[in-house]
Amino acid sequence: MATGINTLNKTSKTMDELTRQVSSEGSEKTLLLKKAGKIQEKVVGKKVFYRGLIEFSNVCTKDCYYCGIRKSNRNIARYDIDDDAILKAAKFAHENKYGSLVLQSGERNDDKFTERISRLLHGIKKLSNGELGITISLGEQTRETYKEWFNAGAHRYLLRIESSDEELYYKIHPHDKKHNFQTRLNCLYTLKELGYQTGTGVMIGLPFQTYEHLAKDLLFMKELDIDMCGMGPFIEHHDTPLYQYHDRLWPLKRRFEVALNMIASLRLLMPDINIAAATALQAIDPVGRERALQCGANVIMPNITPTINRKNYLLYENKPCTDEGADECTHCLHARIQMAGREVGYGEWGDSKHYFSRRSQKLQ
Ligand code: 5AD
Ligand code: FES
Repeated sequence: MATGINTLNKTSKTMDELTRQVSSEGSEKTLLLKKAGKIQEKVVGKKVFYRGLIEFSNVCTKDCYYCGIRKSNRNIARYDIDDDAILKAAKFAHENKYGSLVLQSGERNDDKFTERISRLLHGIKKLSNGELGITISLGEQTRETYKEWFNAGAHRYLLRIESSDEELYYKIHPHDKKHNFQTRLNCLYTLKELGYQTGTGVMIGLPFQTYEHLAKDLLFMKELDIDMCGMGPFIEHHDTPLYQYHDRLWPLKRRFEVALNMIASLRLLMPDINIAAATALQAIDPVGRERALQCGANVIMPNITPTINRKNYLLYENKPCTDEGADECTHCLHARIQMAGREVGYGEWGDSKHYFSRRSQKLQ
């Protein structure tokens, strides 16, 4: 077979090679996933790092065509967890030796929101004696806001590009002032420049998306020289505009398989970055995240949002663990990770190795 070990070993790859990898099936796919798992063990080790995910509000000013919490969806109850409950969840993460947190919400750009986040970041740093690492995922913001939050204690930022192909980007987003491909790109450049460990990602199995688009996404991540990635299957939500294309999507199983191929290919392409096992994988396969941990992913984001609010943060349907409290999730997760042949890096930040190597290269 043309995709032999030699091709898999190279970290600079052509579109054709990557297209072939992300679309691979059967023994070719098995080989790819296995190789990625091996490279993962060699370069970043067997450790998997926890990021306790707090989805603190589903209030959103944007209208992405795929997203269940988009502004125009009137069929969901909006919530905004109060600061005390957020800090309580952060305390839970700290006490249970989660190394880091992720604060995520719908996108807002008002001053009240900006100030609130700064206050929360200070609060989390204080209650954990500076021990909890903090990732934020709060969408597109101004340079000043990103800077303020960095100074307040956030050191990682997740902003998925969703698709690096501009044409496809505008098929899944409105084309207006609030949804602009170039703005999103600029945000990613700014985040890097400000010193954040910067993460991006894409959805896999979108309507109109091809294997070539996905290969291009991988090259985009390499080119942008990202530190972290979170990517998972697209799961249609019936209260969104993209639902009209549901009958032309790849079957869920195929979206899942291609998501694993993407994770494995990215691990081979960028061996020292952090890659998250996206929750959407678990919505398709009960052990989906664990499978991702075996073929390249080394970060997992247990949901520690207070349970009463979880059912309303439905970006997509069939979202897992919306019933359980944080405790149950923690215990079952530890066992699941061990069964996947991985270890939990308790109490460690688990920063992206790539971030430090690219920073030191810059200084030389
Ligand atoms: N299916 C899968 N992922 C989704 N997201 C939003 N809607 C969906 C969906 N229907 C992802 C986006 C966003 C992240 C927070 O959730 O990639 O960046
Ligand atoms: Fe854009 Fe939810 S509305 S990701």
